[in-house]
Amino acid sequence: MEGIGRHTLKCIECGSVYEPAPLIKCSECGGLLDIIVELPDRGLFSRLGLREMGVWRYREVLPVGDGAKVVSLGEGGTRLLKLEEEFTGELFIKLEGDNPTGSFKDRGMTVGVTKAVEFGYRKVACASTGNTSASLAAYAARGGLEAYVFIPKGGIARGKLFQALAYGANIVEVEGGFDDALERVLKYVEVEGDVLLLNSFNPYRLEGQKTLAYEVYEQLGGAPDYVFVPVGNAGNISAIYKGFRELRDIGLIDSAPIMVGVQASGAAPLANAFPHIERFSPVDEPRTLASAIRIGKPVNWRKAWRAVESSGGFFTSVEDAEILRAQMRLARKYGILVEPASAASYAGFLKHLDELDGRVVLVATGHGLKDPDVINHWSNLGII
Ligand code: F0G
Repeated sequence: MEGIGRHTLKCIECGSVYEPAPLIKCSECGGLLDIIVELPDRGLFSRLGLREMGVWRYREVLPVGDGAKVVSLGEGGTRLLKLEEEFTGELFIKLEGDNPTGSFKDRGMTVGVTKAVEFGYRKVACASTGNTSASLAAYAARGGLEAYVFIPKGGIARGKLFQALAYGANIVEVEGGFDDALERVLKYVEVEGDVLLLNSFNPYRLEGQKTLAYEVYEQLGGAPDYVFVPVGNAGNISAIYKGFRELRDIGLIDSAPIMVGVQASGAAPLANAFPHIERFSPVDEPRTLASAIRIGKPVNWRKAWRAVESSGGFFTSVEDAEILRAQMRLARKYGILVEPASAASYAGFLKHLDELDGRVVLVATGHGLKDPDVINHWSNLGII
């Protein structure tokens, strides 16, 4: 365990390298940063033994030193269930709603808030479509920090707002959408100077989220062939791919899975452009009932593009009606309740079913109880 957590930060655009620091962008060119950890040898998994499932099982690949006070609520270790679907391969769903606040954000927040404490911050902030704010609020409470969450006014699901309130976050409602809330929080942290931003361009947070790949690898006894991920700000798909790339670099798998990013058709800047990067342009007024992924300017779009392209994958989009039908099908056929954004990965799978084989993993990013009001849209669309 000697020396675990050693890492540097590297700009994905200009390649500048930084020593560990609470940076959210490259000081040279403003590009996104990646964390480069010193990877362990192939014997990693044989040494994990009976260590509990969860994010911190993979400490050796996280940018957190031995001495750090870890802020944890027992995140990760989520179920991977098999779905009996008629196609030539095998289908699995990773239920990230099992996490402490009901979404995959907890994987990232445990590392993000641990680093905030280590770097000496007393305050953390984010903009959010709901889940990040719920997660940040809970981990800030756990770590004894103050949380400031910027949310689009009237634009987040009721369960998520309740969570942020209940965990005691300071809530700032912003007129407009998520992209406006993000602009506001960026200004806020710049002016204040003593607040750590924990949106997904904070590369430490993405390190926590990459552990999904390690977990799926252990649960399947190898890498899947495809991974379907709902895409909003495009951090999670980048993080998951990074996890698989590390497994490849460690020598445990031959290649990373094909990554498929699924967007809602009214908020699909990546899917609209793919495969022509020069055609990428933000969507000014993103629209979808899947409020978690109602994002027109994904900050991590370059990382996500690189991940999808180098995996041989693609971005696709699905209509709201397809999302809600997929959500209902998961509930009624399999007894699995996920929120609308999470059903996007299943809707994407159903759309491309004929092109797939091998082992396919759908990432179901958040719990269905987060957004009970969506049932009204089921009836409006004539689904029930
Ligand atoms: N699914 C759910 C349930 C989400 O909450 C999000 C993002 C995504 C998918 C997309 O992940 O942004 O990494 O591409 N929610 C953020 C939030 C934006 O503020 O809670 P992404």
